[in-house]
This record gives sequence, C-alpha cells and structure tokens, in this order.
Amino acid sequence: MRTFGWVKCVGAAVLSTALVSCASTAADAQAQAPSFDDAVKSSFKERGQAGMDRLNRNAMQLACSVPADQSPTGDAAKAIQEQAQARVVFPADGEYFGDWKAGEKIAQTGKGMQYSDDPAEPNGGNCYACHQMAPDEIAYGTLGPSLKGYGKLRGTSDPMLQYTWTRLWNSHVYNVCSHMPRFGDAGILTEQQLKDVMAYLFDPKSPVNQ
Ligand code: HEC
Repeated sequence: MRTFGWVKCVGAAVLSTALVSCASTAADAQAQAPSFDDAVKSSFKERGQAGMDRLNRNAMQLACSVPADQSPTGDAAKAIQEQAQARVVFPADGEYFGDWKAGEKIAQTGKGMQYSDDPAEPNGGNCYACHQMAPDEIAYGTLGPSLKGYGKLRGTSDPMLQYTWTRLWNSHVYNVCSHMPRFGDAGILTEQQLKDVMAYLFDPKSPVNQ
C-alpha cells in the first residue's frame, strides 16, 4: 500500500513537479493503509486453545516490540521491571524445591499451549531449547547462557533461591526485554512445576550438577 503510494507520488512529481500535492497523496495512502496490527490479526485464526487474545500485547511487550537500540532504558525500563517484580508470587509454603526428576522432564519437554496440544496435559518448560543444563546432554540451544553446574556453582543461599525463582517467574525483572518465557507470570508452569525445575537446577543429585 505504502509502496504503491510512493510510486504514484514519484510519477506525479515527474509529470507535473507538483511536490505539494505529491506529499498529500503519500499521506492519504498511508492513512488508508491497514495498520500492522490489522494485518497480523487478519492472518491468524483462533484454533483450539490458541485464541486471538494471544495477539494482545501487554505494556512490556509493546515497549519491547521495537528495534533493540530503541528498547526502554532509564525510568521507562525501571517502571516495567518494578511492575514485573511486584507480580512475582513466591512459594506459599516457603519451600523452593520439588522433585528434580520431574523437573528434568519439564526442562526437556517442549509441548504445551499450542493449538494442537491438549490443554488438560501439563505444559513443558522447553529449557533445553535455549540452555545447556546436564553436561551429558548434547542437544541444547544457546540463546540463553549455560546452566551447567548451576546449584554447585552458586549454592543455595536465600538470595540465590529468590533470584532464580524470580528469573523463572518473570525474567523481565532483571532484563527488561528478556527473551526468556515468563513461566510463572504467564501461567506456563504451575508452582509445583517451578519447584521441580528449581530442584533440577540446585539438587546435588541432579544431572545438572554432575
Ligand atoms: C526462549 C529461550 C529460553 C527458554 C525456553 C528458557 N530460557 Fe532461561 N534464559 C534465556 C535467556 C536469553 C537468558 C539470559 C538472560 C535474559 O535474557 O534475561 C536466560 C536466563 C536464565 C537464567 C539466569 C541465568 C544466570 O546466569 O543467572 C536461568 C536460571 C534460566 N534462564 C533458567 C531457565 C529454565 C529453568 C528454563 C526452563 C524452565 C528456561 N530458562 C527456559 C532464554 C530462555
């Protein structure tokens, strides 16, 4: 649409050198052009559990949907990070650790939340898609840092447990435009699943720490 307006504009300029009317032609074309959001909405259909509401972006997502060099900084970034921190829900019973074997399955499983997945089945965390974890697992992505030896290297002090829980709940608390899914905040993993993943990261018997 916009390209078409521009082509017409160049044509008009060449023929009549009427630059003023050319400018208004381009502006009109832009006003009539469908917005980016309309274009995205018209190309998706609701299917299964994947509803159109997934296209609605929250304030953080809107602020981060820009070229990297225009990402929020200073007070704007701080406001997003403080709001994210305020929404973190820590374990109700104060216990951070579940079962590392269950956590391993969650880390390895990429299923869940897609239209073709059964919403009654638990979601996976797909951690290996972005992180190295157990050193003997050779298939992993590198978008995130290696978590090999996580508990062994960092220990289990309260600040370390709170930091890691918060990372899993909503990584945007620490990095305003983080690429890590908001496992707690977005309701991807349950509290029990988060505890299982915590155990997988920290338990001395977990393959992550061998
Ligand atoms: C889509 C990619 C992606 C997925 C999936 C993902 N992460 Fe991350 N993770 C990242 C990135 C990128 C970072 C680096 C920092 C940032 O962006 O904030 C990170 C950072 C972390 C950190 C902090 C590391 C440090 O050095 O302090 C932890 C812990 C972590 N991830 C755990 C997990 C676990 C556990 C899972 C699965 C439940 C997971 N991540 C799934 C991308 C991902």
